[in-house]
Amino acid sequence: MPRRELQLDTEQFLARYWQKMPLLLSGALPGFEPPVTADELAGLAMDDNVESRIIEQQQDTWLLHHGPFTESGFQRDNPWTLLVQAVDHYLPDVARLRQLVGFLPSWRVDDVMVSYAVDGGSVGPHYDNYDVFLLQGEGQRLWRLGQRCDADSDLLPHDSLKILREFECQQEFLLGPGDILYVPPGLAHWGIARGECTTFSIGFRAPRLNAMVSRWVDRLLEQLDPELFYRDLHCEPAVRPGEIRPRDLERAMAQLQAALDQAEDNRWFGELVTEPRYDPDPGPGEADAVRARLAAPGATVELLPEAKLAWQEDPAGILVYANGESELFASAVQSDLEALCGDWRLAVQDREGLDELLDFLIERGVIDVC
Ligand code: SIN
Ligand code: CO
Repeated sequence: MPRRELQLDTEQFLARYWQKMPLLLSGALPGFEPPVTADELAGLAMDDNVESRIIEQQQDTWLLHHGPFTESGFQRDNPWTLLVQAVDHYLPDVARLRQLVGFLPSWRVDDVMVSYAVDGGSVGPHYDNYDVFLLQGEGQRLWRLGQRCDADSDLLPHDSLKILREFECQQEFLLGPGDILYVPPGLAHWGIARGECTTFSIGFRAPRLNAMVSRWVDRLLEQLDPELFYRDLHCEPAVRPGEIRPRDLERAMAQLQAALDQAEDNRWFGELVTEPRYDPDPGPGEADAVRARLAAPGATVELLPEAKLAWQEDPAGILVYANGESELFASAVQSDLEALCGDWRLAVQDREGLDELLDFLIERGVIDVC
């Protein structure tokens, strides 16, 4: 199937809208046929390996129900919305929707969540910490966009749901099949179904800064000489007993900075951003079965839809990140990695380093062979 990227001026989008402003892409996908129906979505929500929830509005009260659901879970008297996470992991046609945003680094994409709502169903006014492209599937949904929010924004009391107490509507858009609304992080939004509808949310991920600091420091501690100590070579005379002086702190910070500057290994970043959403759970002998298929003539490698794969140039070769782990390979594998990350397929050829690369990717559970 051909790659289908959004038709938009990507440079202008990145400069003006990405992470900053909402953007309506009306008629982005003319004649869009949603790759999953409401019934198929309900079927997924009945599977206990799939993460799903229902949000129901009972007058002013918002109720959260966790899946898996049975048929009776879909019979409710109040407006409700079913949300199924990571549908792209299970349905390749849904995974292909991620190619719409192929102008953004693929490791920034988290998953494609799909929602189904009855008339009036909504998850309430809220904001997300991540960017999202909301693609309307079946039916219509009215999207209301509001104020900028942050961790100090007032929420309704609820153990798990983060619904805003105030919503200051600033724009409204009625989306129909194939329309897309981009919403940046921190912007209040509220989508209300007009009749039954489905919405595909191509959601992004961004590591928390505290997770980045923690990974960086862990890696630094592995490299740092434990026999280095704080030094105060040109110590000024202490005149006020017990005082820690600004100069003492400056010295500590300068020595810390010198230690941080020694941290050349930056693998922690790729390992963090390629961590899988769910831990891969290959059956026994799965990797061996894939290796056996690889040996067959004309074998084609396929990237699994749930795989997190990225690569990075390194003075010593190409660092490959697969489901949260990394390994260094010969530079010759770069074109294979580009093919796998871009087309999600790779025809197996005799190339330097390719066998080792494929072995690593099989071990990490990111590829299959057909
Ligand atoms: C929905 O699809 O109803 C909710 C998506 C969102 O607000 O992020
Ligand atoms: Co949202």
